[in-house]
Amino acid sequence: MGVLKKVAWTTTYIAIFLNIYIYTYPSLDSQKCYWSHEYRDYDSLSSIEKTIIQLPYFGDLYKQYFVPDNAKKIDNYPRDIRMMAVGDPQLNGNWPNTPLFKKIDNFGNDYYLRHVYQVMKKRLDPNFVSMMGDLVSSQWIGDSEFYNRTRRIIQRSFPRPESQCSFELKYVNDHIDTDWEKYMGEFYDNLNSGKFKERELFEFKDVYDWYNGTFIDPNTKSNTEPLFLNITGNHDIGYGDTTFQHMARWEKLFGLANFWIEYDNDTDHPWRIVMLNSLALDGPMLQPEFQKYTWDFLEALNKTDYHGSTILLTHIPMYKREGLCKDGPNFEYYTASGCHGCVPERVGLLKSQNHLSKDTSRKVLDVVFGKGKSGIILTGHDHYGCDNYINFINEDDGWVADKNITSDKWIREITVRSIMGDFDGTMGIMTGHFNTEEKNWEFDYTQCVFIIQHVWWATQVTTLISILLHSFAFFF
Ligand SMILES: *[C@@H]1O[C@H](CO)[C@@H](O)[C@H](O)[C@H]1NC(C)=O
Ligand SMILES: *[C@@H]1O[C@H](CO)[C@@H](O)[C@H](O)[C@H]1NC(C)=O
Ligand SMILES: *[C@@H]1O[C@H](CO)[C@@H](O)[C@H](O)[C@H]1NC(C)=O
Ligand SMILES: *[C@@H]1O[C@H](CO)[C@@H](O)[C@H](O)[C@H]1NC(C)=O
Ligand SMILES: *[C@@H]1O[C@H](CO)[C@@H](O)[C@H](O)[C@H]1NC(C)=O
Ligand SMILES: *[C@@H]1O[C@H](CO)[C@@H](O)[C@H](O)[C@H]1NC(C)=O
Repeated sequence: MGVLKKVAWTTTYIAIFLNIYIYTYPSLDSQKCYWSHEYRDYDSLSSIEKTIIQLPYFGDLYKQYFVPDNAKKIDNYPRDIRMMAVGDPQLNGNWPNTPLFKKIDNFGNDYYLRHVYQVMKKRLDPNFVSMMGDLVSSQWIGDSEFYNRTRRIIQRSFPRPESQCSFELKYVNDHIDTDWEKYMGEFYDNLNSGKFKERELFEFKDVYDWYNGTFIDPNTKSNTEPLFLNITGNHDIGYGDTTFQHMARWEKLFGLANFWIEYDNDTDHPWRIVMLNSLALDGPMLQPEFQKYTWDFLEALNKTDYHGSTILLTHIPMYKREGLCKDGPNFEYYTASGCHGCVPERVGLLKSQNHLSKDTSRKVLDVVFGKGKSGIILTGHDHYGCDNYINFINEDDGWVADKNITSDKWIREITVRSIMGDFDGTMGIMTGHFNTEEKNWEFDYTQCVFIIQHVWWATQVTTLISILLHSFAFFF
């Protein structure tokens, strides 16, 4: 056998090995890479099958392909809440002076994210996907670039059926600058008339599909495509520098910044999802109207007097003492010059924050979880990920974050680790399971870790080389 053939086959074996790895990696850590409760029918399996599924890795693969999870069956009621959480993807863009190597890297990154998303979506079949904010890497981009990155998000990195994002695609393809002045006019009308303090604008009920039921299976009444929930991040709309242009285009393509959805309200297991734009709470802001809007929203939410369970989705984590997470408490404000984005018009505005302030966290937690039952908070922002319990101590001390549960009333707060390659393409997996005996929703969270982007790259490159070498060997 010629040297070329030998090299070709060696490359092929490496490529096969790498491909198997990148498509089946969740089975290597099957517990962490699946929901907390499974609904598979093990009783009908033969004894050989029962032995197989005990095996590490292979057992899990067997389950994934041959033993279906019946979680969506109609008689599985109340159904588990199955939510996949995507931490800060931060899509980068290319500029005329971007080096070619970086352009290729950005291109590959879109497909790396797609790989993680598709492998996990196929495995998990989630009801919800929550995008934890910072979908793009910078708020200081024009509408055209924002549209182009949105297109990459909905078609390339987190693809979904075209009919599920036809409005967004048309809007992006029309490529007309967002009419933020119209948005501003409507915004002021609602602000001045007090409409932002009423629930009508924010309240939704039993939504599993924003598309009139197109993606609801009539037999199971469960959604066939996940419901996307998009959380505002500082790189999407800014902190203190948020403008009407930012908000107008965000809400057009990614939905409201603040709202809630109540589920199963008239049953013994009511629960809701609360979406909160945490970038407009502490300030100071260029447009203090956005701060008023968000606090008005919290007032509207406060009036619901909710007694069910709540999943709070927001970008900035709650206040916690130094040492519990990678990021400790920190606030920065714009100066006239000398920092990224520093210009005279922004002096004094909020430039960045790691957590919400202590006072704001208290108010948010009181409003969202004060009267309710169990709950969970998912946030983004710090990229490394973190896991804490926020314990309600008493009226004086309020809510205090800790690694342990130290009170009868507590809420787990997860800072979702980023899906970016530098953070190993991590996917957050949140299960809500209703304990029918204790009549309470129990929330569980694990993270499924892939691997640094270079391995994914190596897989693509070795696959390509092995095809090329075989072609050469064939012709010469
Ligand atoms: C966005 O994409 C369109 C079409 O591909 C292109 O014409 C436009 O220049 C892009 N915008 C930016 C800011 O690069
Ligand atoms: C849903 O139905 C309403 C009323 O028929 C329509 O106005 C709206 O465009 C539909 N939405 C989608 C996403 O199809
Ligand atoms: C979230 O964003 C996607 C576009 O990326 C959009 O299709 C979807 O409807 C958005 N969700 C909401 C709640 O608006
Ligand atoms: C949910 O039920 C409560 C009472 O149980 C009621 O006050 C509230 O208006 C209901 N919410 C919705 C959205 O119907
Ligand atoms: C929420 O309502 C309670 C009274 O029920 C009030 O004391 C509290 O200040 C309200 N919080 C906010 C943020 O509006
Ligand atoms: C949590 O509590 C246990 C015992 O109650 C203690 O041993 C442990 O050190 C605590 N962990 C932290 C991080 O405080």
